[in-house]
Amino acid sequence: MTILITGGAGYIGSHCCVAFLEAGHDVVVIDNLSNAHPECIERIAEITGKKVAFEEVDIRDQAAVERVLRKHQCSAVIHFAGLKAVGESTKDPLAYYDNNVVGTHRLLSAMSNCGVRQMIFSSSATVYGEPQFLPITEKHPLNAVNPYGRTKLIIEDMLRDIATSNPAWKFSILRYFNPVGAHKSGMIGEDPLGIPNNLMPFIAQVAAGRREQLSVFGNDYDTRDGTGVRDYIHVVDLVAGHLRAYEALASRETPSNCFVVNLGTGAGYSVLEMVSAFERASNKQIPCVTAPRRNGDVAEIYADISTALEVFDWKAENDLDAMCRDTWNWVCKNPRGYEGR
Ligand code: NAD
Ligand code: UD1
Repeated sequence: MTILITGGAGYIGSHCCVAFLEAGHDVVVIDNLSNAHPECIERIAEITGKKVAFEEVDIRDQAAVERVLRKHQCSAVIHFAGLKAVGESTKDPLAYYDNNVVGTHRLLSAMSNCGVRQMIFSSSATVYGEPQFLPITEKHPLNAVNPYGRTKLIIEDMLRDIATSNPAWKFSILRYFNPVGAHKSGMIGEDPLGIPNNLMPFIAQVAAGRREQLSVFGNDYDTRDGTGVRDYIHVVDLVAGHLRAYEALASRETPSNCFVVNLGTGAGYSVLEMVSAFERASNKQIPCVTAPRRNGDVAEIYADISTALEVFDWKAENDLDAMCRDTWNWVCKNPRGYEGR
């Protein structure tokens, strides 16, 4: 039985391919390469020593998705494909509703037509909005505050409705906190186009001398040093959580046929703590300047991880030093990311 990985040439999807191939599963990747480089597929093959089935397909092309599902006799889907930049989503919401919501609808329709009824879905902690209590449990009220977050919430609701309509469907909705780091080989990692939106890739580019300094967005939050606190999780741990989610779906030992699990470490680190940790890992200075708060940012957010422990018997293993070390290794080995982008 083969697992279809949508967006498998992207940052998290590529690490997921490695984890599943190394665990002995067969996978097929579909990706439209809108935010990925085909070189990534070669690297996955090199790391695992296995050939990777890849089809350049857009999830919105329902007929093409059905062809892939049938050709590879897929039994489950891990769904990463989508757009993910909050700022961009406020400027071009239609692109986000099209790629994320319409795309997922077409993907689910294709699955339905092919009798494939298991999906692991990449959701985000962004669906919680401003925290009303910490740590954030899966029961925390949902309040997405930007178009990107709303697309994730709409998709989650779509999955809940489908699961209610027919118990044969099984969904695991995984709400990621802040994935960072890279595979320890340094062969795959995060390769943002243009100026990185997220903290870790920006810090890495400053350390590498590609950018002059980090702008710290706000130093007057009600946190231990005034800067924003987030729950960073090593991408290798994150994808290990997907393996456990897949095993749980396959074993039927799940709380329901549509269940939600936070994937984080449960610990929060501030921007300045991240900078110090990266300075230690890279042995470089990261010049910082204070800048105004970024619109839509919350002061502090970190996960309650007890559901993951209960349902998956899983928790993250890598600490902050490992996250920084592996990011730095990837950046040093690939100073311009996957070449030619
Ligand atoms: P990414 O951009 O690296 O990967 C997404 C992949 O999907 C890319 O390879 C892109 O080419 C592909 N893609 C986009 N639209 C497509 C379409 N219509 N058809 C086929 N392929 C398409 O992003 P990532 O960081 O690996 O994120 C993966 C998933 O996890 C996304 O759904 C994202 O919203 C979610 N997520 C990411 C983070 C994060 O911090 N990286 C946090 C929370 C949730
Ligand atoms: C962002 C997204 C969120 C997404 C998450 C993971 C926004 C508003 N939210 O969240 O939807 O799920 O990424 O992909 O974009 N920071 C700086 N300087 C920088 C970059 C970031 O100080 O150049 C600070 C931020 O203010 C924040 C922290 O670093 O306090 C982390 O930022 P980031 O990596 O963008 O993640 P999130 O804000 O959690």
